[in-house]
Amino acid sequence: MGSLKIGVCGLGTVGSGVVNIFNAHHGLIQQRCDADLQLVHIGARRDNPNCDTSSYRVSRDVFDVVRDPDVDVVVELMGGTTVARDLVTQAIEAGKHVVTANKALIAEYGNELVALAERAQVALRFEAAVAGGIPIIKVLRESLAANVVSGVAGIINGTGNFILTEMANAGRSFDDVLAEAQALGYAEADPTFDIDGTDAAHKLVILASLAFGIPLDADAAVTEGIDKVTPEDLEFANELGFCVKHLGIARRNGNAIDLRVHPTLIPAHRQIARVDGVLNAVMVEADAVGEIVLTGPGAGSLPTASSVCGDLTDLGRVLTHSKVDPTPTLGVPCDQLKRLPLVPRDAVKGVWYLRMVVEDRPGVMAEITGVLSERGISIESLIQRPPAAGSSHVTVVILTDAVVCGQLDSAIIDMESLPALMGSVVRLRVESFKEA
Ligand code: HSE
Repeated sequence: MGSLKIGVCGLGTVGSGVVNIFNAHHGLIQQRCDADLQLVHIGARRDNPNCDTSSYRVSRDVFDVVRDPDVDVVVELMGGTTVARDLVTQAIEAGKHVVTANKALIAEYGNELVALAERAQVALRFEAAVAGGIPIIKVLRESLAANVVSGVAGIINGTGNFILTEMANAGRSFDDVLAEAQALGYAEADPTFDIDGTDAAHKLVILASLAFGIPLDADAAVTEGIDKVTPEDLEFANELGFCVKHLGIARRNGNAIDLRVHPTLIPAHRQIARVDGVLNAVMVEADAVGEIVLTGPGAGSLPTASSVCGDLTDLGRVLTHSKVDPTPTLGVPCDQLKRLPLVPRDAVKGVWYLRMVVEDRPGVMAEITGVLSERGISIESLIQRPPAAGSSHVTVVILTDAVVCGQLDSAIIDMESLPALMGSVVRLRVESFKEA
């Protein structure tokens, strides 16, 4: 039986999960990969009381793991893109295989790291970087290899979905739920990226690279966070028969790619609308298979560690039987990736939810609907709430028909210049998806 020795760098939420899985399932992993897969060295600045590391060598300097001649595979679980980038680069240059859960690192520096790994003929795997415990990377890279993928869409941030679900279903406040997501180990060390959509955008560009054979481009997605969603919008969405989810959407549009991350109203009967809490879901539309939806925990210690250990088991099986891992990291060798143009934000067509506060007087509704009709925008539904006691203002919610984003921008500028409109118009996208 061949052997493969593993060094883990980082002992936070995911690192401790990997140690716990090795402690519990070492025999099972060995059996599954028909190799002697051993965790031999852990690099971490401090111990983690959530896991027992007494059977392993532990170093305080993570680079000791890279320098350890015994280590064949370096597992980078520290997060961030500065030290992590140096560590992964040095590991590859030292001829070691790398497994990482670091979506920011792959999205931002993946092109250079994949090229480096290909030249060094070492494996670079990152199943845990997208959608936590859902094995979507392997599915796109290998299982759907015989398909032309037309679109990938999903809920790909567990923290964001947990927050929106608890706000909608339990009426809890944003800050209260975020604090719980942090305590449960779902959120990033700095949760800004969970909230402003950056984390989901990183994951989306990784999915898009695998789905469409394009290079990684961390800044390619039009990105909006969940911070703009209010309890009021969740209530109106519910009244209109929708749920609000934070979606990442990657679609082939002719020869261009449409990449977007934003809060989205989804019809409440759609399967993805019922994916709640920390669960993630990824829908793939492809020519041979049709539509598939994978659902599972998108964050958390053991689910994310499960994906890391899946990569390690794969490498154990492959690398103890062959000198190199023949699976291209991004589905095709990196010199075969082809850059495609991005659909400009203004050109994206879609249905919109608009919420605004207006003066409660005769003719105001005609002024608002007049602006929309002048711009050729039809109205699908309209709700007007009666004014609160003593108030001279009412809230109006409009669902538009499909309209090009640039056209809606102009209509909103016109509406916001109406004297009857108070403040700005809140807008959220609506996605119905094709019926499966
Ligand atoms: N903070 C991330 C999330 C962790 O909530 O989805 C998993 O990538």
